[in-house]
Amino acid sequence: MSRIPQSFIDDLLNRLDIVEVIDHRVKLKKAGKNYSACCPFHEEKTPSFTVSPDKQFYYCFGCGANGNAVGFLMEYERQGFVDAVESLARVAGMQVPKETTEKDVKHAKKQRGLYDILGLASTYYQKQLKEHSSRERAVSYLKGRGLSGAIARDFGMGYAPPGWDNLLVKLGTNEEDRHLLVESGLVIRKEGEGKLYDRFRHRIMFPIKDTRGRVIGFGGRVLGDDKPKYLNSPETPVFSKGRELYGLYEARQSNRKLERLLVVEGYMDVIALAQYGMRNAVATLGTACGEDHLKLAFRYVNEVVFCFDGDNAGRTAAKRALVNALPAMEDGRQIRFLFLPEGQDPDTLVRQIGAERFTAQIENGVPLEEFLFDAVAEGIDVNSMEGRARFGKLAAPLLNTLPNGIYRELMFANLAKRTGLSLDLLLELTKEKVSLVAEPAKPDPSQQPQPEPELPAHLGANIGTSISASTPPHIDESYAHIPPLEPDYVARTAQTSAPKSAPVKRSSITLNPVRLCTILLLEYPKLVATLNNIPARAETEDEELTRLFDLIEYIQQRPNCSFNSILGYWGGRYGIEQQQALADLVANQLMGSVRSVENYNPEQELEQSLARIGQKLQKANNQKELAKLQAKGLGNLNNEEKERFRELVRLQHQQT
Ligand code: UTP
Ligand code: MN
Repeated sequence: MSRIPQSFIDDLLNRLDIVEVIDHRVKLKKAGKNYSACCPFHEEKTPSFTVSPDKQFYYCFGCGANGNAVGFLMEYERQGFVDAVESLARVAGMQVPKETTEKDVKHAKKQRGLYDILGLASTYYQKQLKEHSSRERAVSYLKGRGLSGAIARDFGMGYAPPGWDNLLVKLGTNEEDRHLLVESGLVIRKEGEGKLYDRFRHRIMFPIKDTRGRVIGFGGRVLGDDKPKYLNSPETPVFSKGRELYGLYEARQSNRKLERLLVVEGYMDVIALAQYGMRNAVATLGTACGEDHLKLAFRYVNEVVFCFDGDNAGRTAAKRALVNALPAMEDGRQIRFLFLPEGQDPDTLVRQIGAERFTAQIENGVPLEEFLFDAVAEGIDVNSMEGRARFGKLAAPLLNTLPNGIYRELMFANLAKRTGLSLDLLLELTKEKVSLVAEPAKPDPSQQPQPEPELPAHLGANIGTSISASTPPHIDESYAHIPPLEPDYVARTAQTSAPKSAPVKRSSITLNPVRLCTILLLEYPKLVATLNNIPARAETEDEELTRLFDLIEYIQQRPNCSFNSILGYWGGRYGIEQQQALADLVANQLMGSVRSVENYNPEQELEQSLARIGQKLQKANNQKELAKLQAKGLGNLNNEEKERFRELVRLQHQQT
């Protein structure tokens, strides 16, 4: 028996994601619901090592190694149990209790007690919606909002009847249970007098579940226009707002293979969308969407779409979400932003336009990279040198919060291109603020409004002294050595500098039309839709060309895919080396091309390059045909074939 209480290990495992723990040490690739890699515990060439996010468990089909996150660490880092637990606890920000004291036993019992009492309360509220003498008002309110009985049942909705002690009387029959009711936030103990009363009275109840389906808290809505409109459970030992997503359990229950999550603002939005068949919406609980929320979401999907109101408040909220999202943007993940028409929320909009059109709007959401550069550029004249310098200064610290990886490199390369600043200089700009940017939103212990995560001056608050709102909008000392935007200079510096965080071997790359098309499509996937002459796919030994055709097909199937999702696809399809090669290609190109940023016409360039590819394919075909005819022997050709032969020879002449 260990001296670390099992309840603590349970807590720890609950709070960690095994996928993250392992991925940190052995790069994992998404494979359906699970993740896979070549097994770190035995030699193998094809991956049979599998990690299940559902089960929080790993298993190797080759050698049978298996276990949970603690077990993995013990095996992989050859640590003892206690060391493994301690290093994981550090990551999770938890303190390991040293001995199994009576207190720990009590704690474990209390946790169980809290889940139990919350579950009982949920059952009680649901029953009141069906049976209570004043249920009519609740039912007609829900009907008035267009909710079906079936959806209310799916989400376990309930009703807290009017009165101060309904729940207290029902569940608080002994001292211990009354204590649990208070600890779970269901019952409030009046300051001083010690008198107890129900927190939720005469409200529609929304149970909030954790990913295992246990009720951990509630939201309660008034039936009319009283204030506050919603009451939420306070932070408790089993509930912390900054870490939970309302509707995630239900979404996972109804989609075996969840691919995308929609992050909305309200309980009713989640439920209305579900009623219209869109059962993949989740809501933060009256707080901004923080880093922990996103980590949770990305544990289950690779794509997150945020829905925000189209007004100013919505845009500010979106910027805040953007800042929080950056640290979660690992390769292959995708985030988009959907701005709703003013005055609408997802609830009202889906009722107005239906699921199909709503979904279409989602697919047209603005990719994170686009929103980021747009948001930073707000109010800046990027056509002036001064503006570009300021742009770089604002964007660099943001990009610096991206995790290491190809996406990060490309974003920096993109910034280098947009600003004409060298990567070295951009990295210089990130240095001073590293610790100031986007502190993860810590769950607040009380119900006080949360301090907002820091934003760049530009995005609504201050990101740090050096680029706060007080930064004068002129070029300061550190810019003195920026040369004018000369293609040569940028190309030269770009060759020698890559983000230091992720050194990549780069060779010089020449651009044939296939490469150029590949790059352009990566940067502007939307162009595929408008192209006129895509050459027909042809058998070819040119692997690069084959991949280009694959890429075109991929984008045709997912017209709104973002760059990062293509990268993820690429890695999945051709392996990590090709993914790297692709990234190198794009990065080099982005940095090398300081073709006048303003007048650049990618569409035209793409059309021209595709035309050249088409010609090349045609030429290759002609040559094959010619060779065939020659092989027959000229004397054996019929008239038609002779005519064709002459034609082909003529064409060959023309082309060379
Ligand atoms: P909204 O006011 O947008 O909620 O707040 P809603 O879901 O559209 O409400 P309906 O449609 O009027 O029923 C969004 C979320 O903010 C939190 C809740 O989580 C709510 O769902 N909130 C809002 C509170 O916690 N307290 C409040 O008083 C209001
Ligand atoms: Mn609403």
